[in-house]
Amino acid sequence: MIIRKINLVNFRNLVKQQIIFDKRINIFIGDNAQGKTNILESIYFLALTKSYRTNDYNLINKDEEFTKVKGEIKDTSISKSLSVEIVNENKIVRINNNEIKKISDYITNLNVILVSPEDINILQGTPAERRNFLNIELSQLSKNYIKKYNEFNKILKIRNNYLKMLYNSSSPDRRYLDSLTENLIDREIDIYQERKKFIDMINESISKIYEDILGIKKFNIKYETNIEFENFDTDSLKEILEKKYNNSLQKEIDNGMTLYGPHRDDLKFFINNDDIKIFGSQGQQKVAIISLKLAEIAIFKELTGTNPIILLDDIFSELDSKTRNKLINYIPNDIQVIITSNDTRGINRSFLESAKIYKVVNGKIVEKVGNNNGK
Ligand SMILES: Nc1ncnc2c1ncn2[C@@H]1O[C@H](COP(=O)(O)OP(=O)(O)O)[C@@H](O)[C@H]1O
Ligand SMILES: [Mg+2]
Repeated sequence: MIIRKINLVNFRNLVKQQIIFDKRINIFIGDNAQGKTNILESIYFLALTKSYRTNDYNLINKDEEFTKVKGEIKDTSISKSLSVEIVNENKIVRINNNEIKKISDYITNLNVILVSPEDINILQGTPAERRNFLNIELSQLSKNYIKKYNEFNKILKIRNNYLKMLYNSSSPDRRYLDSLTENLIDREIDIYQERKKFIDMINESISKIYEDILGIKKFNIKYETNIEFENFDTDSLKEILEKKYNNSLQKEIDNGMTLYGPHRDDLKFFINNDDIKIFGSQGQQKVAIISLKLAEIAIFKELTGTNPIILLDDIFSELDSKTRNKLINYIPNDIQVIITSNDTRGINRSFLESAKIYKVVNGKIVEKVGNNNGK
């Protein structure tokens, strides 16, 4: 899949811009604070209907009331127009100018893998940030996942409120709680299975990628659930979950919340048995995240039947030259890549020669003619 063009209206400092992309390599050059990251963010926003670095409100240009991002994507021979608009705290999402009410029908249309300086939070941040990473990637890969995950969240809220109520009730109605629990378990099974499958797929290639970049063996990630499962078969998950909620009823009522489930999941990153969040150097941690993103490329292709679009934000100042060259070499050459950088120094010449280069100055984008003049 590729993005052919994008039209931006009032997206941060990009007031009115149209960008026509090359189907292979696109590089946006410019000084700091000109709008380079905003361009990548707008593509991410078009794909996922939200930003990875802020709430919706901040995406609207400060002097304006709404923002609209419209893009044309092409997958094999099919072209589609996608748009996301924020007006008065409402979000309007369209495919081919038809409004789409269910986000789950929209998000799988445009698949992006973003590599950005913020990624380090996946490793260093809270478990919620790692779950967020899983949710975002799985939402792009599986309609079923978004659907089940949204339902899960709704039921979880109701169940938590009901548990709080039971705490103060003298004759609690167990039947309603039981039906909520049953519905919750039903959604949890899918969430656990999809997360597990995704992480298993990542582990099939990530250790080799990590070793290729850093020369260190036995890198792997672990899916940590807060319930111990023997395996992830439907029947066995169901049995263990039922038992867990049954045995924890009083504890959950006392706490007024659902204590067990995929909302408590975590991911850990290991070299051998050392947790690299604790023991890893900064370089090892950065490469861990890069390897994770690279491992995803093949998984996206396998699960969706098409290549994702790769967005690389500022990797030339963020990564040493060896790491970034490995990163670039790992990206198959039939994939569309969109890159930001301060200048073209340090970018491999053959890569530059096959790229379309744009200059970004104060929210304005101009295509550069000739690829060899640095700034
Ligand atoms: N809502 C907004 N309205 C107007 N300008 C904004 C808004 N949000 C961010 N900006 C501007 O965008 C610029 C930063 O853009 P960014 O893409 O992060 O820069 P860089 O080129 O360094 O990647 C800053 O000049 C900032 O003031
Ligand atoms: Mg930037």
